[in-house]
Amino acid sequence: MAARRAAASALELARRRTLGLTDCLPDEELVAQHSPLMSPLVWDLTHIGNQEEIWLVRTAGRRPALRPELDELYDAFRNPRADRPALPLLPPAEARRYLATVRERSHQVLDAASDDRPLLAGGFVFGMVAQHEQQHDETMLATHQLRRGPAVLDAPDPPPAPGGAPPPPEVLVPGGPFTMGVDARTDPWALDNERPAHRVEVPAFWLDTHPVSNAAFQEFVADGGYREPRWWTPEGWAHRQRQGLFAPLFWWADGDRWLRRRFGRVEPVPPEEPVLHVCWYEADAYARWAGRRLPTEAEWEKAARHDPATGRSLRHPWGDAAPGPEHANLDQRHLRPAPVGGYPAGAAPCGARQLLGDVWEWTASDFGPYPGFAAFPYREYSEVFLDRGYKVLRGGSFGTAAVACRGTFRNWDLPVRRQIFAGFRTARSAEPDAAPHRGR
Ligand code: AVJ
Ligand code: FE
Repeated sequence: MAARRAAASALELARRRTLGLTDCLPDEELVAQHSPLMSPLVWDLTHIGNQEEIWLVRTAGRRPALRPELDELYDAFRNPRADRPALPLLPPAEARRYLATVRERSHQVLDAASDDRPLLAGGFVFGMVAQHEQQHDETMLATHQLRRGPAVLDAPDPPPAPGGAPPPPEVLVPGGPFTMGVDARTDPWALDNERPAHRVEVPAFWLDTHPVSNAAFQEFVADGGYREPRWWTPEGWAHRQRQGLFAPLFWWADGDRWLRRRFGRVEPVPPEEPVLHVCWYEADAYARWAGRRLPTEAEWEKAARHDPATGRSLRHPWGDAAPGPEHANLDQRHLRPAPVGGYPAGAAPCGARQLLGDVWEWTASDFGPYPGFAAFPYREYSEVFLDRGYKVLRGGSFGTAAVACRGTFRNWDLPVRRQIFAGFRTARSAEPDAAPHRGR
């Protein structure tokens, strides 16, 4: 059955990535903590297996526990990241064996699975576990970026932007209602916070055609943007002062040019690439400096999904087809975002490009529940983070797996976080008395 094959291959793909991100490092580097913000990679490894054991083997399969004593050590809520290196963690070889044993059982569960419980409907729990592993794979990629030492990862560069006249700098999204979010009926692997589908009225607005580039962000830096409190919210300014922020994370000035470190290599900051590793406060300050603002989450999703020709919401900006390499920079195929203006085949009906892939995009919105939200299947995936000061990010990055990326997918993080693969684009309201467009 096709659903079974899809689940098996999603699990397989995730595992290949997990092993690729960990087999390339010696044990000392897997057990070390490369940043207090991150777990030792060997914690992620066993946590991936433990979550799979809990959800596929025990809950979906109703089979006996394999290693119940691991549950507490690998519970993210009981052990904050900073504490994880001091825990009696499984050594790498044992962790790999544990993952393989769990996976064998998961395949047995998958082979015997029926659709008779909500957890199993449409193969939800298999999709959830594959997405969970891939989310940790992106987190592990961020750990690789934080790690000091010679490069161990390599990938070809993404495609250049097409030649010829560049697209206009911004696109108009007409006003009116659209369907935000999705139901399990339509997308059985959508996670609880993406549900249910509901109508939202979004007034007309202008949106950047592509994410803000390093060149544009450098203008903000050169114009004294980090020294000017009027561009920042009060909390953002206090944070900038306290932390001494002066440019995106991983950047430093070398005379009059900017250099950056990327997966263990030093290189000039490429002007045409989307800016990466800025926190929400920096994105928000840039937008104000540019005479603009961050898009709301509803604006972002309307730009990405609303098809004015049919009035329906698409799964992805380009339609319902699964993401291919021509649509978006996903799946760690490339270890950097593609130059802005790329991926014309992935454009949304409104003309915006690179909405999926390349960089996560900060939105103006707080992470809250949709009307009718119900935690499923566990409160700790989304519910405990709702209305707790997290900002929503949309679209996925070059480090995000296709299985964990779609027009409805919601990510969230604290407004101070910069180690994630996040950039942004800006917007402005289309009412006639809105602030004039200052240009970028
Ligand atoms: C959805 C990316 C915010 O990594 O904290 C992983 C995903 N949840 N394990 C995170 C997640 C539980 C989550 N984010
Ligand atoms: Fe997790």
